[in-house]
Amino acid sequence: MDAIVLLREDHKTVEKLFKQFEKAGEDAYDEKRKLVDQMIEELTAHAYIEEEVFYPAARAAAPETVDHVLESVEEHHVVVWMLSELKDMDPRDERFDAKVTVLMENVRHHVEEEENEWFPEVRKAMGRNQLQELCEEMVKAKGRAPSEPLAVSSARQ
Ligand SMILES: [Fe+2]
Ligand SMILES: [Fe+2]
Repeated sequence: MDAIVLLREDHKTVEKLFKQFEKAGEDAYDEKRKLVDQMIEELTAHAYIEEEVFYPAARAAAPETVDHVLESVEEHHVVVWMLSELKDMDPRDERFDAKVTVLMENVRHHVEEEENEWFPEVRKAMGRNQLQELCEEMVKAKGRAPSEPLAVSSARQ
């Protein structure tokens, strides 16, 4: 297991939740609430470990990718605020599905950029050992990740 493999696994977990949401019936309010609560938990922890561990390490190892780092943090900022709004929104609210749809669009775009444009450059810049060490650090960070989306540092940036 290395840091990038771990992050890609998280992305897959979230994509599965998105697919389930898209398949859920219009009136499946309890199911949609449960899925969105899981998205909040997964995405908050994922943004946290990226911002606390991976992004700073990637910026140090591949300083030429700083634009990716900065853009990614801005994208996290939007996502964590949307998560925080969804936390308190009734799934019967007419805006609920629309907000989840835009959240999914944002996250999918973000994941695509991370995986296809940025991570390959980071992998090249970091050695195998560093990626493995970073993975251990991220697993530990996940254990102390907040459940509140706005506790992630990009929320305040
Ligand atoms: Fe990210
Ligand atoms: Fe990510």
